[in-house]
Amino acid sequence: MSDLKRYEKIKDAFFKKIEHKEEKLYLDNKNLNLIKNSIPNFISDDLDNLTNKMSEFYDEVRFPNYDDCEDYASLYDKGIKNLFTKRIDQELSYGTNTLELGCGTGQLSLFLARGNRNIFSVDISNGSLILGEKFRIENDIKNVYFMKMDVFDLKFKKNYFDFTISNGVLHHTKDARKAFNSLVEVTKPGGLIVIGLYHKYGRFFTKVKQKLARLLGKNIFFLDQTSLKIKSKDKRNAWVTDQFLNPHETLHLPSQTMQWFKEEGVEFVNLIPHSDDISKPLFQTREEPKLSFINEFLMLFNMNQIQEGGFFVIIGRKNKY
Ligand SMILES: C[S@@+](CC[C@H](N)C(=O)[O-])C[C@H]1O[C@@H](n2cnc3c(N)ncnc32)[C@H](O)[C@@H]1O
Repeated sequence: MSDLKRYEKIKDAFFKKIEHKEEKLYLDNKNLNLIKNSIPNFISDDLDNLTNKMSEFYDEVRFPNYDDCEDYASLYDKGIKNLFTKRIDQELSYGTNTLELGCGTGQLSLFLARGNRNIFSVDISNGSLILGEKFRIENDIKNVYFMKMDVFDLKFKKNYFDFTISNGVLHHTKDARKAFNSLVEVTKPGGLIVIGLYHKYGRFFTKVKQKLARLLGKNIFFLDQTSLKIKSKDKRNAWVTDQFLNPHETLHLPSQTMQWFKEEGVEFVNLIPHSDDISKPLFQTREEPKLSFINEFLMLFNMNQIQEGGFFVIIGRKNKY
C-alpha cells in the first residue's frame, strides 16, 4: 500500500537541477513514478551502460539480503552486536537527517531508524529496495524512506544531510571519485561523511578466489570462511556473488581518499582499522595519519579486515565555510 503522506515530512529535501539552478521537486502521486506502488523511482531510462549493468546485477543479487525469519528484534540484536553499527547508533543524534547511499536491502538504515532520524535510503536495485521496503512495512517503521536514485544524479538539495554514509558502494560505480563528490555536495557543512571502500592490498586473496570462481561459480563458497559461516542460503548466495562474481569493482587506498577529502574540503576524523581507538567515540577527530606504503600495507594485518573482503572505512567532516 502506498504511504506517500510520510514524505510530506521530508519534502523540502528534494530538488532537481535545471541547468545550474535548483528547483523544488514535488512528491505527489501525479509526479512520482512508484515501484510496487510504494518506492519512489527517480531514475530516468538513460542510465549509462555500467550503472545499468550494476542495477541489473544487484536487482538479482539483493545484498546483503535477510537471514531466514529475520524480524526487527533480530535485526536490532545484530546491529548492536556489530561494534561499528552500534557506535554509529550511539553517537548519531536523534532526529538526524541521514543519507544511506547504496543501502542495498536496507539493514543499516532500518537499524538506525530508532531515534526518530529521517533516513533516506537510496539504491539502484529494485530487488534490494523491494526487500527493504517489505521489511519496513512489516515492522511498521515510518521514518525510513527507500528510493531508487543514482549517485550521479541525486535529487537532493545541496548541503542538506547531517550524516551521509556509503558502505561498500563507490567502488562499484563508474567513477568512485565523482560519486564521492556527489555525496559531499548534499552533506551539510559540519556534517559527517562515512565511506567504506575495498583496500588495494587487502583484496589480494579475494582476487585469487575471483579467478577460481570463474571455474567453480558459486561453489567457491567452500573455499571462503565467511561464506561457510552464513546460515541462510539466500544470504550466502548474495555474499558469494557480490564478492566473487561481481561485474565491476575498483580498489583504493586510504591515502587516496585522504587526498579526496583535502580536495573537497572534508576534514579527517577517523580511519578504520588504522587510526581507530575503540575507547574513544567513533566520530571524535583523530590525529591525521601519515600513510606511507608500509603502514598502508601493514594495516591489512588485521585478519578480520582481510576475511571481510579487505575493507577500510574513512570518516570525515565537511568543513564549515
Ligand atoms: C555491495 S552492495 C552494499 C550494500 C550495503 N551498503 C551494505 O553494506 O550492505 C552495493 C550497493 O550499491 C548499489 N549501487 C551501485 N551503484 C550505484 C549507484 N550508481 N547509485 C546508487 N547505488 C548504487 C548497488 O545496487 C548495491 O545495492
